[in-house]
Amino acid sequence: MTQAMHEDKIKRLYHIKKLSEEGGGPERISAQHSKGKLTARERISLLLDQDSFVEIDKYVIHRNDDPSTKTYFGDGVLTGFGTIDGRKVFVYVYDFTVLGGSLGEMAGKKIVKVMDHALKVGVPIIGILDSGGARIQEGVVSLDGYGDIFYRNTLASGIIPQITASIGPCAGGAVYSPAMTDFIIMVEHIGQMFVTGPEVVHEVLGQEVSFEELGGAITHASKSGVAHFVAKDEYACIDKIKKLLSYIPQNNSEFPPIVNTGDDPNRIDSALASILPENPYEQYDMKQIVKTIVDDGDFFEIHELFAENVIVGFARMGGRSIGIVANQPLYLAGALDIHSSNKAARFIRFCDCYNIPIVTLVDTPGYLPGTDQEHNGIIRHGSKLLYSYCEASVPKITCIIGKAYGGAYIAMGSKNLRADVNFAWPTAEIAVLGPEAAITIIHRRDLKKSEDLAKTKKALAKEYREKFANPYIAAEKGIIDLVIDPMETRPMIIRALDTLSTKREIHPWKKHGNINL
Ligand code: HXC
Repeated sequence: MTQAMHEDKIKRLYHIKKLSEEGGGPERISAQHSKGKLTARERISLLLDQDSFVEIDKYVIHRNDDPSTKTYFGDGVLTGFGTIDGRKVFVYVYDFTVLGGSLGEMAGKKIVKVMDHALKVGVPIIGILDSGGARIQEGVVSLDGYGDIFYRNTLASGIIPQITASIGPCAGGAVYSPAMTDFIIMVEHIGQMFVTGPEVVHEVLGQEVSFEELGGAITHASKSGVAHFVAKDEYACIDKIKKLLSYIPQNNSEFPPIVNTGDDPNRIDSALASILPENPYEQYDMKQIVKTIVDDGDFFEIHELFAENVIVGFARMGGRSIGIVANQPLYLAGALDIHSSNKAARFIRFCDCYNIPIVTLVDTPGYLPGTDQEHNGIIRHGSKLLYSYCEASVPKITCIIGKAYGGAYIAMGSKNLRADVNFAWPTAEIAVLGPEAAITIIHRRDLKKSEDLAKTKKALAKEYREKFANPYIAAEKGIIDLVIDPMETRPMIIRALDTLSTKREIHPWKKHGNINL
């Protein structure tokens, strides 16, 4: 009876609901599909648990000062909340079918609303970008929208995880908000990020560059470091978002979920020592060691293609989420440089924000020398690594596997940077300088006198290694807590993680530190 009475009103609702759900209309939807892209609604249904999405501001219309232009409900962005694997999230997903997903005044207000909600509720916010940037027709109010979003990104930083996926063009203002979030995932051949597009580059600089080369997924994952992950398609991108969320808590006052992985915490592996070559100049893959010690060999690597001389990523040990930071001797012999310092520092700071313990595996000959590094600011960038380890109050466990020389020994989670538990393998070489550099200084006279220089150098380096480049001098001084058999690395780290899980560290009050950006 009541239904019949209000039939017209209910019909009207379904009419505008349909219009809103059509976005830019059937033609634009098929254009989106023909570019190999899913629509905003299809993306949301992949991302969120079935039937969990509650869309808000579905009937917001764009600022329309020109009555001859078409009215679009939703204003080019879908916003709302739902769950992923049962955990609450807020989302905003740009709809390229409406005015190229450009950000107008009302779209800006919609995004700000869900960001405010996510911050109050204390849950992650996920943005999917496919946007032409500031809506040109709306002028300054669209710039206003970006400004408001940037402010929310900053407020939310360190309180709730913020994740962005670039599944389409992200131009102009559309790139800076992602850059202020914690993680960016780009889809190969579809995601593009640039402040100014190829046409402007050509006009201003006369340079010819393709979209892909300028700001494609591989460019940003390998050269600029803007993208933390590359996904081969949209489905893989959504899977990565879900996996990433599984390692992290809902907000900074919670701990990450503990997962029963079924992998025995006491599992030892006698093959571990043999991964490290006898000859310290031979290369090996540190990822093999990482995969051997973590639960089920499951290592979720971040920045896989960027600054490969350091490895960072999430894993679980004894079911607990951990952040791994490790030197990679396969690249630059594991030396630290500008990019790797930035990469590791940012990751450490993320882990520290969200109560994720840091496990550091060390094998580095030092900081990379040279004019290129010095002139581009290795002092400034390298110091960020020191700063972020010192600042981090989460449990920190370090294990020195091979070389740990000079400043890089200190930087890679040393005791002085407030690591809680420091292990070393018997193969660790902890000293001020590597043997070759050290002997040229302390044995200068012997080398000058030598008749067979190569032979003398070899003998002196051997003597130096035995005398200085081992873990026992550090262990005698308590700088290393324990020298362990490589095969017991996993159980020892897990025991330390369990014990440190209730660690609390109080810092003197300050507004915020002044990291050397
Ligand atoms: C209004 C826009 C738009 C924009 C795209 N469209 N970008 N409308 N404002 N910023 C519209 C197009 O006019 C077109 O409408 C529809 O969206 C689809 O765009 P196409 O160009 O047909 O699509 P495609 O070939 O896939 O190219 C996508 C694109 C390109 C690479 C994003 O549209 C582009 O270069 N747009 C401009 C990018 C840009 O310079 N943005 C910077 C804005 S300034 P019709 O109706 O014709 O189909 C900015 C500053 C903020 O963001 C700074 C804050 C710090």
